[in-house]
Amino acid sequence: MATSALAIQNFSGISDADCDSRIAAAKAALGDRLLILGHHYQRQEVFQHADASGDSLKLSRVAAASRAEFIVFCGVHFMAEVADILSRPDQVSILPDLAAGCSMADMANLAKVERAWRELSEVISPDECVTPVTYINSAADLKSFCGRHGGIVCTSTNAPKILEWAFERREKILFFPDQHLGRNTAFDMGIPLDEMVVWDFDQPMGGLTVEAIQKARMILWKGFCSVHQVFRPEHIDAFRARFPQGRVISHPESSFEVCQKSDLVGSTEYIIQAINNSEPGSRWLVGTELNLVKRLDEENPDKNVHFMSPTICMCSTMFRISPQHLLWTLENLVDGRVVNQIKVPEQVAVEARTALQRMLDINV
Ligand code: 13P
Ligand code: SF4
Repeated sequence: MATSALAIQNFSGISDADCDSRIAAAKAALGDRLLILGHHYQRQEVFQHADASGDSLKLSRVAAASRAEFIVFCGVHFMAEVADILSRPDQVSILPDLAAGCSMADMANLAKVERAWRELSEVISPDECVTPVTYINSAADLKSFCGRHGGIVCTSTNAPKILEWAFERREKILFFPDQHLGRNTAFDMGIPLDEMVVWDFDQPMGGLTVEAIQKARMILWKGFCSVHQVFRPEHIDAFRARFPQGRVISHPESSFEVCQKSDLVGSTEYIIQAINNSEPGSRWLVGTELNLVKRLDEENPDKNVHFMSPTICMCSTMFRISPQHLLWTLENLVDGRVVNQIKVPEQVAVEARTALQRMLDINV
């Protein structure tokens, strides 16, 4: 077994074409010991090497069911954490570039969520009347917080079912970190906007009055996705003016106004199914990440698929995973070395697993 790791610097100059053949060779050498997972937002040069692809929910199920020794997650940090939490202790979860985080996930942290819980307890009894629900786009210690306080994890695919579960238990939900997914989902379930408040984590008591907190059913963390916030209602108006027969589909991380103007709203997996199953000649305006929209356009040559924003905008953190990083990870594994392992400490993982398992037990 080799001792020192192959250095990433030696891989940066390798062409994508050479990466392709070397990645294929490394995959063949590792065989069943390796599983490469690819989120839909990965660039095509990386996505093509995935053994399984999907949205966050599907990939967490695949990770949980996998027997592979090495799970290489082409996605972002919280996804590799979920793979680690749900896999067996002898399996290794790897993120090819450790800088591939999620800027929305970083908008909530344990200190701020615990402070919110403490402040809420000055006016209500959160452990009796608030279910904490964290979007899967969050750090493991926030999932752990939810596990500890009777809460749960959700993804954009299962959010309606998860909110139903949460409301069956307690009258209010503290939803973090994405205000938009929380608001869009709750509104579709019939909760009016005046029963939702936004918790500004930089202000004492979230910047809210006691009355507002007592009246609210949804307490929405003031987080958002920088990619989905570029989509605007005006983009939809301009598309409809040009193509009155066209349809609009958006990810629920988009703003309330964008989702209200869209014909369909759903997760990446939902968007893919809707477009793939639509009739030839149909035209779509899509409000989600650019790499996925480009792939949908290429894979549906008989349809017209437009990206919602007039400016190029992709998830820059997802984009961190390059073929060169993937190759570096795999060739180190072939040499018997693990680089970029994502390991969640067991004291955090145990309660995070509880919250994730509650989610996985709900069939969607
Ligand atoms: P999905 O759950 O739809 O895959 O979304 C994850 C994500 O990060 C979207 O920005
Ligand atoms: Fe995070 Fe937004 Fe990127 Fe999704 S698209 S990983 S929410 S920053």
